[in-house]
Amino acid sequence: MAVKDYVIAPSILSANFAKLGEEVANVIASGADWIHFDVMDNHYVPNLTIGPLVCEAIRPCTAAPIDVHLMVKPVDRIIPDFAKAGANIITFHPEASEHVDRSLSLIRDAGCQAGLVFNPATPLDYMDYVMDKIDVILLMSVNPGFGGQKFIPGTLAKARAARAKLDAYEQQGGRRIRLEIDGGVNTANIGEIAAAGVDAFVAGSAVYGAGKNSDPHRYDSIISALRAELAKT
Ligand code: DX5
Ligand code: ZN
Repeated sequence: MAVKDYVIAPSILSANFAKLGEEVANVIASGADWIHFDVMDNHYVPNLTIGPLVCEAIRPCTAAPIDVHLMVKPVDRIIPDFAKAGANIITFHPEASEHVDRSLSLIRDAGCQAGLVFNPATPLDYMDYVMDKIDVILLMSVNPGFGGQKFIPGTLAKARAARAKLDAYEQQGGRRIRLEIDGGVNTANIGEIAAAGVDAFVAGSAVYGAGKNSDPHRYDSIISALRAELAKT
């Protein structure tokens, strides 16, 4: 796969929240592709983060796609709010939705790309009967709730299995569906993750941690280091 087809999506969970607009603009100016936006509700996951108001506030700070990862239950109520707030991609955890097909349709009907997120212990079967409604599959390589956790190695085999399902779908006349990974991604493991068939990479602490001592915060060297590893694959 050409390096330019890979997506790097820094998670703003590890950004400086007092300067969020700048952090968003700077990470994109440093070469990142998407802004990964982690929504946690202190119910589906044991942490509380940001909602549509913050999405709306950062929307004018970049033209890059905003990739909203919903870790909330219920799911449907909040989908139109994020679409109105400027989200481009909205993903959710199938266990958190009463009706997976309907939640995917709600996202598409609101004009966004839709996706399912799989926890480390969630089987991939959820995608089988809704492939036509999916634009992205997000595999968790940590248990959701917090940034800065360690990559779970078993996710590599799961990524290969997911890639095989997505390739089979494409070969049968379907569209290309992105395979995104989230949790513990860094320069040491991004190459083997790409080799397992992943083409979009969320990285929170690895990216924002690398720039926090520069002033203003710049992320060029970490983003190019991640791309250099991808170029080797
Ligand atoms: C975890 C979040 C991730 C997290 C990634 O629940 O979904 O997006 O911020 O952070 P790192 O890259 O630090 O694991
Ligand atoms: Zn996430």
